[in-house]
Amino acid sequence: MDTANQLFAIFAFATCGGYSGQLRVSVDCMEKASSNLSIAIDFAYPFRLYQMSFEAPMCEATRRERVYLVGDYSSSAEFFVTIAVFAFLYSLVAAVVYIFFQNKYRENSRGPFIDFVVTVVFSFMWLVSSSAWAKALSDVKVATDPDEVQLLISACKVQTNKCGSLHGPRWSGLNTSVVFGFLNFVLWAGNIWFVFKETSWHKGASRLAGGAAEKQGGTFSQQPYNQGSFDTQGNFSQPSEYSQVGGPTSYSNQM
Ligand SMILES: *[C@@H]1O[C@H](CO)[C@@H](O)[C@H](O)[C@H]1NC(C)=O
Repeated sequence: MDTANQLFAIFAFATCGGYSGQLRVSVDCMEKASSNLSIAIDFAYPFRLYQMSFEAPMCEATRRERVYLVGDYSSSAEFFVTIAVFAFLYSLVAAVVYIFFQNKYRENSRGPFIDFVVTVVFSFMWLVSSSAWAKALSDVKVATDPDEVQLLISACKVQTNKCGSLHGPRWSGLNTSVVFGFLNFVLWAGNIWFVFKETSWHKGASRLAGGAAEKQGGTFSQQPYNQGSFDTQGNFSQPSEYSQVGGPTSYSNQM
């Protein structure tokens, strides 16, 4: 796992988990004294909108009502942030293992196998959680549209009162979080191949295939460990510290 995994995961959970937004509407009562021309409505992660409330004039003297937004999008938002946090922690631990326990990792075939399975699971989770969060975000946008929020205010249902939208929330941060969610999926799915190469399945198969599988590796431009290189025949080869003596890599280099 390289630092891109960690950075992209941080961007994903920070942009979503750190979000707070505000919209503003105006209620212009026929009875001007009771109007409020700038009502601020705040909401934030985790988007339990039904718990977010504001006070609106009822256009009857000084009477006011407490109005609640509608909807609960916390499950998708929290799922997305949880996956991002765990993906970040896993890539951090994986980086430490690669750097400090490289020999132990390679001696024991269980290490690469676990790494492979976890990478596949995280890729899938990034896809599912990003899709769920993208859907939830589009619903949050509707639920916090000032034109929709006006419909919740009882004074706005009376024709003689005029309600208006001053501004909607900023969405750039949350749009970014969705983009980073899908980028993380692509990044982790791309890592599957490189992690798979470390498993005994692949090592066994490529021994049989006489290094043919190593050549396929050259078609991937991404090199997560930043240590791979192309030899003169265009074959992708790992540096010597990654190759087993007499293994498939050195075999193909001799050809
Ligand atoms: C209008 O609503 C805001 C909250 O959004 C409140 O702080 C302000 O006091 C209200 N103004 C009047 C005149 O009631």
